[in-house]
Amino acid sequence: MSAQVIDGKQIALQVRQGVAEKVADLKAKGITPCLAVVLVGENPASVSYVTGKRKALAEAGMKDRSEVLPENTSEEELLALIDKLNNDPSVHGILVQLPLPKHIDEDKVITKIDPKKDVDGFHPVNVGNLVIGKKAFLPCTPHGIIVLLKEIGMETSGKHALVIGRSNIVGKPVSLLLSRKDINCTVTMCHTGTKNLKELTLQADIIVAASGHPHTVTGDMVKDGAVVIDVGVNRIPDSTKKSGFRLIGDTDFEQIKEKASFITPVPGGVGPMTIAMLMYNTLEAAENSIEK
Ligand code: GUN
Repeated sequence: MSAQVIDGKQIALQVRQGVAEKVADLKAKGITPCLAVVLVGENPASVSYVTGKRKALAEAGMKDRSEVLPENTSEEELLALIDKLNNDPSVHGILVQLPLPKHIDEDKVITKIDPKKDVDGFHPVNVGNLVIGKKAFLPCTPHGIIVLLKEIGMETSGKHALVIGRSNIVGKPVSLLLSRKDINCTVTMCHTGTKNLKELTLQADIIVAASGHPHTVTGDMVKDGAVVIDVGVNRIPDSTKKSGFRLIGDTDFEQIKEKASFITPVPGGVGPMTIAMLMYNTLEAAENSIEK
């Protein structure tokens, strides 16, 4: 079998076009959705992600109130900026790009963001609401994965989904979303303490690989016909590229495409969905601000 490659770029574009249409409607009512992306320092991956997010904002017709701060910004200064953005009614969403420099406490920063403006869905109030099934901003990468699964038309109910990774950004929330009634999967969460990974992956109908390590999942670990979603973004040196590196995922694409029914490429799979769902959440934050 040769897997169908899921075109995350195209699906993300559809989501972004839908958002742009609704942004135009809101603008006609006098409200322009506005996001502040806050970047501290010059981590190359973060700079690249933030550039992509700001470009998407412009394309959606939204306002960009982003701030780029130097690496030596103090925790106090960052918290003061968040306070200012929290209290500015023209700002609907706030995203602080992670990771932050080591001298800044990430938890303190995330908790400072007004949950109503937390378009990343990282604030404990949004995480808690997600866990108990109440309305919450869904974290962008996990939400994007769910949209991809819906888009390929897969019947997910009763299927075995296996998630590799337990991060707050991907592993934990995607496990919760996959087990919600609308997806209805039986979910196994694996992590560095898992002893029999291959035995488990071979039982999975859906594999979400978010281990943070290249080629954690190889062809021999995948059941025929499984759906494989690769969340990995590992930079490996490549002298043939202008940038000096290329991106590879957490799965071995070449091997797995001979086994899986559907597979996401890296780049061009999950990555573009993260940005699309961020635009979706920012629109939602702006819409919610009217309903108040
Ligand atoms: N760093 C890696 N992924 C993300 C994300 O989705 N949001 C933020 N804020 N930082 C990240």
